This record gives sequence, C-alpha cells and structure tokens, in this order.
Amino acid sequence: MKMEVLITKEKLEEIVTDLGRRITEDYRDKELVLVGVLKGGFIFLADLARKIDMDVKIDFISVSSYGNSTESSGVVRIIKDIESDVSGKHVLIVEDLIDTGLTLQYLKDLFNTKGCASVKLAAIMDKPDRRKVDLKVDYVGIEIPDEFVVGYGLDYAEKYRNLPEVYIIRET
Ligand code: XMP
Ligand code: MG
Repeated sequence: MKMEVLITKEKLEEIVTDLGRRITEDYRDKELVLVGVLKGGFIFLADLARKIDMDVKIDFISVSSYGNSTESSGVVRIIKDIESDVSGKHVLIVEDLIDTGLTLQYLKDLFNTKGCASVKLAAIMDKPDRRKVDLKVDYVGIEIPDEFVVGYGLDYAEKYRNLPEVYIIRET
C-alpha cells in the first residue's frame, strides 16, 4: 500500500472552522440537530460540533450502503437509527464524503418523512466526478479527485480512521 497526504490537518481545521461559522450564522435561534453518519462521519462531526457557536443536539445514524459490493447501490441498510424525535427540528446530516450521492439522497428522503422543519446536508469531502444523482449538498468542505481516501474517519478495511490527515491510498 502506498499512502500520500491529500489534506493536511491544518487544512482540515481551516475547512471545518469555516463550515462551523457558516452553520452558526445560518441556524442562529433555530433548534438544530446534527445527525452524524457512522462510522465515517464521527471525526468530522466531533470537530464540526465544536466550531458551532450555539446550542445543538447530537444524534447518530449508522448505515451500510455498500453491502458486499465496492460501490453504492442506492440500497441503504439502517444498522442503527437515531434515538431522538426530530419532528419540527432542523436537521443537518453530517457525512464524511459524498461519492455517488446515493447514501445522502436516501437519508435526505428518509428525514423528509419525519416531519423535520428542514433537512440539510454537510459533507467534508466531495468527489463530484462520481455523482450519480443530482443532489444539492448544502455544506461541502472540499472537492477531491476520484481516488480512494482514508483517514479523518475514513477507513480501508476498518483501518486508518484515526489518522489526523486525509491520505490517498493505492495498492502497489
Ligand atoms: P455514496 O456513493 O452513497 O457513498 O455517495 C458515500 C459513502 O461511501 C464511502 N466512500 C469512501 N470511503 N474512502 C472511504 O473510506 C473513499 O474513498 C470513499 N468513497 C466513498 C463513504 O463512507 C461514504 O459514506
Ligand atoms: Mg460512510
């Protein structure tokens, strides 16, 4: 395996600080629930929540989008659902990376059936070249090339989630 840094921790901090500032401005005086998408979104959510300068509630959902294949099928299985009642609340879904868009599309549709005041999407990384559905992501950190990445929550076979920077990983 060859690994090469794509996003440094300084750059990640800068991106998350900026997103937190925008979210604070946009949601001031609203009841905001951050819904982190496990597992990949856990680090981004933890950092982002600390850059949001207002009261927020935090919940998590765990989904498996890939099944046995290596690409999103659009068939999303919920492994762990949220625990709070989000009806009437403003929900911001916090995901690590948007690729085909099928996972976030599914989650947005799902939350839209729960009577939320609004449902918006945040992803720290975006691979726009891979998109299969026309989906608006309200808060995007940074666009990245179509390469497999690990670190900052993202894994390869459950490894590397704890790396503080984002790496491109290639088989050698
Ligand atoms: P879709 O295609 O539904 O997929 O937008 C989003 C999910 O796919 C995972 N994903 C990756 N995970 N390195 C990873 O570790 C990658 O390069 C990568 N590309 C997509 C990701 O978990 C996201 O939730
Ligand atoms: Mg994920």
